[in-house]
Amino acid sequence: MKVQIPRGTQDILPKDVKQWQWIEEKIRDLMNKYRYEEIRTPIFEHTEVFSRGVGDTTDIVQKEMYSFQDRGGRDITLRPEGTAAVVRSFVENKLFGDPNQPVKLYYMGPMFRYERPQSGRNRQFVQFGVEALGSNDPAIDAEVISLAFGIYEAIGLKNLKLVINSLGDQSSRINHRNALIDHFKPSIHEFCKDCQNRLEKNPLRILDCKVDRENPLMKTAPSILEYLNDESKKYFDKVCEHLDRLEIEYEVDPTLVRGLDYYNHTAFEIMSSAPGFGAITTLCGGGRYNGLVEQLGGPETPGIGFAMSIERVILAMAAEGIRFENENDLDVYVIALGEQAKDFAVKLLLDLRKNGISADKDYTDRKIKAQFKAADRLNAKYVIILGEDEIAKGTAPVKNLATGDQKEIPLEQLVPELKNVLN
Ligand code: HAM
Repeated sequence: MKVQIPRGTQDILPKDVKQWQWIEEKIRDLMNKYRYEEIRTPIFEHTEVFSRGVGDTTDIVQKEMYSFQDRGGRDITLRPEGTAAVVRSFVENKLFGDPNQPVKLYYMGPMFRYERPQSGRNRQFVQFGVEALGSNDPAIDAEVISLAFGIYEAIGLKNLKLVINSLGDQSSRINHRNALIDHFKPSIHEFCKDCQNRLEKNPLRILDCKVDRENPLMKTAPSILEYLNDESKKYFDKVCEHLDRLEIEYEVDPTLVRGLDYYNHTAFEIMSSAPGFGAITTLCGGGRYNGLVEQLGGPETPGIGFAMSIERVILAMAAEGIRFENENDLDVYVIALGEQAKDFAVKLLLDLRKNGISADKDYTDRKIKAQFKAADRLNAKYVIILGEDEIAKGTAPVKNLATGDQKEIPLEQLVPELKNVLN
């Protein structure tokens, strides 16, 4: 029987991993500049972390979670997103007591959603995300958004569009919710079963429905921006003012509601506007989630963050024709012919590597020509050629493959000499 990879997952082969590592490095470098620290939480959590955190009426919780009972009968879920898990850890580890506030965290790791796979939509994907917990300052909303742009800039992406909205605070949302119910109720029978269920439980979710997207009532639905109270409006204006200050262009879109329930105040997405990116254009999404910490058993703590998948960054790089520098070439390839030379090469490799030089050799008994070809394929900078004669003489030729220059070097001088030229 042929064994195959599960649908919606992918193997990342060594030739492609280099691009992933390059992106990951850019991200970590920027995180250091913005002073966000990495947090690593488990890949699975108790299911209630997500059902309570992300929200019972969301597509993620209702349709997309990989949930199962473990052998001890516990309800377990492979994490579909990072925010609820990070907040669980923030509460459990009492990070709210940390003297450095706000607590600025980032994570990078696999997430799992049972979605219909297509380009940019996988069942396992790697999300990079940040969460800033403990500040209610609109400046941190702007910082988080500028950080997302900083990553795309470091990677070289140019065709970006920021869409932003405010979902308001609790009281603004209640007023908006009632207006939504009044708006949809008379015609709710025209909508899908899910939307009919959403009407009383969570009418905001109707605006996010993929099935009823084209229904004319969607376009005329009351806008949250009309229901923002003074405080929420002031908050949103200040976030926009900071974005202007940071020279980040944005479009206010009152229909942006996001697919997770924990949001209030700022909500945003960054899209790729590169031609050829594909049907799904969202590169990252996030927003403010004041109240989530309390919902998961912690003290009142505001929070804001966003997440992006590396898969979509890679798609955007391809759409914009961005190539990355692969600085991982091989320093030295040792060509060894004959028993004695091969034995010598075993120890020589260790000495080279211990001295910070990347080195490799042939392990399949190839002829000299094939070994040279291998050195070329691996982009080796230098080749050491060792045969019985070289061992007897005590010197070996070292060839610079870029210039073709060749120099005879005493065997005991090989490591210091190469270390010298490679630095
Ligand atoms: P989300 O909008 O569900 O938000 O996902 C954020 C990002 O994860 C998306 O914009 C996309 O880049 C990526 N993503 C989501 N699903 C898939 C998929 N099936 N395949 C590939 N990429 C995907 C959240 O997850 C929130 N936790 C974000 C957040 C953090 N909000 C506040 N803090």
